[in-house]
Amino acid sequence: MADAGTMALSFRAVAAYESCRFNGIGARSNFGRASSSQCGILPANLRAFSRGEWMAQHARGLFLQWHITARCNLRCAHCYQEDYSQDEFGFHDLLTVVEQFEELLDEVGRERAPFPSRGHITVTGGEPFLRGDFLDLLEVLSSKKERFSFSVLTNGTLIDGAMARLLGKLAPVLVQVSIEGDKATNDCIRGPGTFDQTVTALKHLVRAGVPTAISFTAQRENAREFGAVAKLGQDLGVTFVWADRLIPWGSASTLRGQTFTPDETREFFETMYAARAGAARSFCRTEIRMHRALQFLVGGGHPYRCTAGDTLITVQPNGDVFPCRRMPIRVGNLLENPLVELYYKSDFLRALRDRNRISKGCEGCRHARQCGGGLRCLAYAVTGDPFAADPGCWHARSGSEVSQSRYSTTV
Ligand SMILES: C[S@@+](CC[C@H](N)C(=O)[O-])C[C@H]1O[C@@H](n2cnc3c(N)ncnc32)[C@H](O)[C@@H]1O
Ligand code: SF4
Ligand code: SF4
Repeated sequence: MADAGTMALSFRAVAAYESCRFNGIGARSNFGRASSSQCGILPANLRAFSRGEWMAQHARGLFLQWHITARCNLRCAHCYQEDYSQDEFGFHDLLTVVEQFEELLDEVGRERAPFPSRGHITVTGGEPFLRGDFLDLLEVLSSKKERFSFSVLTNGTLIDGAMARLLGKLAPVLVQVSIEGDKATNDCIRGPGTFDQTVTALKHLVRAGVPTAISFTAQRENAREFGAVAKLGQDLGVTFVWADRLIPWGSASTLRGQTFTPDETREFFETMYAARAGAARSFCRTEIRMHRALQFLVGGGHPYRCTAGDTLITVQPNGDVFPCRRMPIRVGNLLENPLVELYYKSDFLRALRDRNRISKGCEGCRHARQCGGGLRCLAYAVTGDPFAADPGCWHARSGSEVSQSRYSTTV
């Protein structure tokens, strides 16, 4: 595994960083070289992982997003974390989390019988590869494929060729890395050298036959660069590229001015739509996905509904449970109550699952029940109310008409 601490900064990366509009945010590492490659013809051994398969696999599934560490070797300007030293579970307690998730799957399965309840665990951080026992954990997850699939969200800086081959053997359904724009913009947000490192990691992963995704976090400063990132993904042969909007928590609290207005939101989705159409025209197998909140309004298809607290539950490194990492409302801790109890007994999670609840500002909208109010985490971050309409939605009543909620940030 590449050691981020021993990597030297390149002169160009430092120059780009020094003129960075987000300067003041730490950055550490650089390795590898960017190189261009041809439009992605996927290697023969790459398991196809189409949208249809994903939907089929997870239609009745339950997702656990599991932040196994808060530690990170980067300090991205837009990061929703600001504490990188939170307590984390030892390996034995990690196994207990897996058991608790299996218990929850059993219970949900009983409730939904005769339909089997499939699970999926997304392991992430912080940077999960910083944990010395990360591969041991992945081996455990890999051995339980009949219960759940798993994927990894990483910044990619610690994945070299050998690590990519190991991951290939463990067979996650996906390894997702993040790229925020062209090299200059990405390095401005994520730190010098990170663009090259992430591109190098993607090349290793694609070569090893691991299904890959690029995640792009959209804000005013980088919105126009989505097309370039989509093109990069096609050139590298990644499985899909997608984007969601910045949520101003943690380090990103200072970037509130970067969140989109409704007009900018629509414009950004149009940029995504153009990139998707371009990919389809060039017959690349890389999919440009538009199924995050509100994207159906421009991209078409079935409305996406926020899954937080419903089919998605998040566990923090210290065992705190949130509906979603981007909605930091603590509903309990696994050291105090089992996951199955928190999932079924929390009033807040039950409210999130209530499909009859119409978000404030969405009353007149024909999508109200299916869409459920767009990005609830953004509504919460901006208005203090997760049941207010998405502040980026151009169909909703204006945010100033929306009242405050009783829910407040508890962490
Ligand atoms: C917290 S990271 C964990 C994995 C890894 N450290 C990374 O950066 O890819 C998961 C994803 O959340 C995104 N993210 C971080 N802060 C965010 C924020 N304030 N709003 C929206 N997305 C954010 C990251 O860019 C990344 O794509
Ligand atoms: S976004 Fe990911 S890589 Fe960047 S500081 Fe946060 S956890 Fe680390
Ligand atoms: S008005 Fe509300 S329900 Fe309708 S699309 Fe916008 S956020 Fe979704």
